[in-house]
This record gives sequence, C-alpha cells and structure tokens, in this order.
Amino acid sequence: MKTKILKIDPIEPNKAAIGEAADIIKGGGLVVFPTESVYGIGADAFNAKACSDIFKVKGRPSDNPLIVTVASLDQAMEIGDIPGDYLDSIKRVWPCPLTFIVKNITDLPEEVTAGLDTVALRMPAHPVALELIRESGTPIAAPSANLSKKPTAVNAQQALRYFDGKVDCIIDSGPAFFGLESTIIDLRTFQLLRPGPFTIDELEKAFGKRPDPGDVARGSRQADVAIAPGTKYAHYAPDTKLFLYEGDVEDLSKSMRAIEIPQFAFIGSNESCQVMHMTGCQTMALGKRGRPYEIAKGLYDGLIALDSAKVGFGIIESFAEDGIGLAIMNRIRKASSNNTFRGLDGLLGMLQENGLYLDAHSVSRSE
Ligand code: TXA
Ligand code: MG
Repeated sequence: MKTKILKIDPIEPNKAAIGEAADIIKGGGLVVFPTESVYGIGADAFNAKACSDIFKVKGRPSDNPLIVTVASLDQAMEIGDIPGDYLDSIKRVWPCPLTFIVKNITDLPEEVTAGLDTVALRMPAHPVALELIRESGTPIAAPSANLSKKPTAVNAQQALRYFDGKVDCIIDSGPAFFGLESTIIDLRTFQLLRPGPFTIDELEKAFGKRPDPGDVARGSRQADVAIAPGTKYAHYAPDTKLFLYEGDVEDLSKSMRAIEIPQFAFIGSNESCQVMHMTGCQTMALGKRGRPYEIAKGLYDGLIALDSAKVGFGIIESFAEDGIGLAIMNRIRKASSNNTFRGLDGLLGMLQENGLYLDAHSVSRSE
C-alpha cells in the first residue's frame, strides 16, 4: 500500500485536506494523525475490520483495548455512561489530554473494548484531530502511533518510519504539543491508570478530588491485574538496552571518565548532557532541567534517537516526580524496564548481567 502524506497546518487545518483524510476513515482505512499529546493511528471506531487492522499494523496484543476519540461531549455521552456528577467538570476541561474510563453503553466492536464492559474516551485538544473526527462523522479509535512496545511517534517523520506502506495516510502537522500520552483516569473509582500531561494537581483543581498515584501509575511495577490493560505490557522501550541512573550526574561523569567502557549514550537534561559529554559518550539533550514540559516533549525523541546512535547501551537520568514529572518518570521506568542503578558498581553489575560487559577484570581504573 502507498502511504499518502498530507501536510496540514496544526492551528488552521485546511478543509480539503481534512476531507481527504476523513474519506479514508469513512472508507475503513487507517490515518495517522496528530493530537496534542502524541501522534495516533486512527480508524472508524465502529468499523470492526478497520480497528482490527490497527492491531495488525501495530503488532498490539488483542487484549489491550483502544482509546476512542470524540469531538464533543455529546458524542462521548452516546458511547459511555459518564457519571452525572462529573459532567460539569468535564465540560470545563475538555478538550485536553485527559482520558476517562467509563461504562460502555454502545455496541462498539470487541476489537475496540477488548471485550471489557468499559470504554476509554478522550477529546483531544488539537484542531486537526477535532476537525478529522468531525468530518469523519464517527468517533475515531486511536491508540498511540508506535509499534507495540516501542517509543511513541511525536512527529510525522517518526510515524512514517513505523508505518510507511502499512497505513493509508499520515497527516504531518509538525510536533505533537506535549510529547507524552494523555492522562487516564477511571471515572468509576477515580483511580489514576496512567499519568500524563494533565497533572494530579490539575485533576484536583478540576474535580475536587486527588487520585493516588500508586505503583502502577508511577510505572515502578507491572500491573498484576489488567486495570489499564496496557500497563501490564513492557512499553516505550528502545531496542538499545537502557539503564536509569538515580544519583548525582557529576559523580557518574567523574567515575565513568576513570574507566574504559563500551560506547554508550546519555539521555538527560541539557545541563546533565554537558557534564556527561566529558566521558566521551554521545548525548541526547531533552531540554532545560528546570523546564519539565520541555523534557517531556523531548523524551520520545531522545528514546528514538538512542536506537539510531548505534551504541552498546544507554543511560537516562531521573527527574523529580511532581507535576508532569510523574508522567516523565512513568515512561522512563517502563523504557528502562526498571533497570535502575545508583553508582558505578551498580552499573557495571547490570552491564555484566546483560552481557554488555563481560570481563570485569578488564576495567582499567586510571587512578
Ligand atoms: O494521548 C493518548 O491517549 C494517545 C493519543 C493518540 O490519543 N493514545 C494512546 O493510546 O495513548 P494507547 O492505546 O497507546 O493507550 C491507551 C491505554 C492503554 O494502556 C489501554 O490499555 C488503556 O488505555 N485502555 C483503553 N481502554 C481501556 C479500558 N476500557 N479500561 C482500561 N484501560 C483502557
Ligand atoms: Mg500506546
């Protein structure tokens, strides 16, 4: 299949181009499109065949349900039973990067809900996404635009690398605004299933309730039960082995300069990259340390760049877990499969365990 690329302005979408993409959705095809969080891979949510194509193209396990994106609250209320108490708050905050799990009240295909009696609903705050849903005249089922388990595409070029020849169309509207997937909250229990750009503080402000971040949302353990079925799968992982460093970057840089170690790359804030650069490693700078939204926006770019760097392994630094930092650390923990170290010995141990550093005795300490 030839994949058509449609360039569409993110703020003032061209009607004819949107119409072209909407015709593909209506015809049962797949369209990769931008949202404010990340790029999504969309199909008519009521077309079972098109939705099953999403799973095929992504290599996604069939028990991992899809998010249904809508262009209005009315459209959402036709699909899910949104508790009345929450309606005013949702009216105030939507569209935004916040997805709700509610009881499903329609005959959505099993491909979308994975046979659950619930559905995930989201109204993206992106003019192109909203126009596309409106013009298609149907809610669009849209998981993130990545091959299953791989870092999510946050621009059209990354989506093209994953899906060239596998989807009918990719809309190129430049980078997604936030760079991380939406926050997911189960409206039945007010449990946070996935942290995202809509923070816990903002949830509290909007709903008068504060969800508990919990272990699953922090990304620090695999969910035993499939509460957000996606949380039980490894996620967002580059092919290159990635280790999470929890400690002082000056210390790490100093101790790594003193030994011979295979080629590696460091992913972190601009400031930390400067410090680590002195070890001779490659660096992927995500943004200024004091600007967590910049770090969030750079994260998937950094993870995707790691795989092009052709190095033995990657090290990523940790960030404060407040505000959007909770979502940043959730994705980092998953991307590094919770392989965390605190000092050089910890790192060497993990490299050996992973067959990346077989001969411990060849470590030549220069001191
Ligand atoms: O920002 C986003 O939400 C992006 C953009 C494209 O909209 N989409 C996205 O979709 O991140 P996806 O499929 O990558 O993540 C959806 C998550 C999965 O972890 C899935 O398990 C969960 O939502 N989910 C979907 N339906 C659910 C349900 N009924 N109950 C619990 N979790 C559900
Ligand atoms: Mg995803």
